[in-house]
Amino acid sequence: MTVLGTETGLRVTPLGSALGAEISGIDLSQPLSPERVEEILGAWRAYLVLVFRGQSLSTEEQRRFAANFGTLYERRRGGTSFAKDKYGLYDGDPAIREDPNLMLVSNVRVDGKPIGAVADGDMWFHIDSGYSERPYRYTILHAIKLPSTGGDTLFANMYKAYETLPEDLKAKIAGRKALHIHEYKRTAKVDLTKDFTNSPHYFHPVVATHPETGRKTLFVDRLMTARIEGLEAQESADVLARLFDHAERPEMIYAHKWRPGDVVMWDNRCVTHGRTDFPHHEERILRRCTIEGDPILP
Ligand SMILES: [Fe+2]
Repeated sequence: MTVLGTETGLRVTPLGSALGAEISGIDLSQPLSPERVEEILGAWRAYLVLVFRGQSLSTEEQRRFAANFGTLYERRRGGTSFAKDKYGLYDGDPAIREDPNLMLVSNVRVDGKPIGAVADGDMWFHIDSGYSERPYRYTILHAIKLPSTGGDTLFANMYKAYETLPEDLKAKIAGRKALHIHEYKRTAKVDLTKDFTNSPHYFHPVVATHPETGRKTLFVDRLMTARIEGLEAQESADVLARLFDHAERPEMIYAHKWRPGDVVMWDNRCVTHGRTDFPHHEERILRRCTIEGDPILP
């Protein structure tokens, strides 16, 4: 166990060899000093995914905690495909319905309408808003209600994925960009034979440089990365399949088993995440904040 900030009692316990650390000795509902925010950021850069157990955050407290790490993403209303009524709204909780900074990840339905996004079942590895020009820098999830089993979130260390790639693959993707497309699916690839111009999409470097650590990282994911620019279609598909299989090997992964009260936060610039299946008749509710990001750098 690494002990940081003995004055404040923050403890950082790694969660395995791939990535992830549990932070204890802190109540996230309270305002944090700048020094403590720096400690958390230091652990975040080192471990990529941070887990805080046993928290109880109101919507306002979650928003305040998240705002320590950048500008809160604000959900747009009207005129964009993000503004669909179903997306991130919670009919049973006006505080969230009115709050553009919060979104629910949930399978719960009220009058047949999902109260949150990405409702049911398993989900392929993806980067939150990886299809946009400025993907979210961070995602911060707070567990409210969980199924009795399953619904684990799997995190992949994409620094490690890049560093351990075979040399021929590294050469193949060097300097290239890939197309990321969002089609509101959970476990199916985008069909490139159909017109996707109305789906959010963007080209990012396949190999990115993390702006704070300077480390190279693989910026692709199975769910939304559709095509590598400059490669013939079959070769692109083959290379992507090899990249995904490599990045999802067990040695890249930390699997988070949720408990109510967990706050789990990750860095979308160097981590992809997916979800395991869970009983569909059981309710799962997590409350999400995201922090605005910047263009992904090669
Ligand atoms: Fe996600």
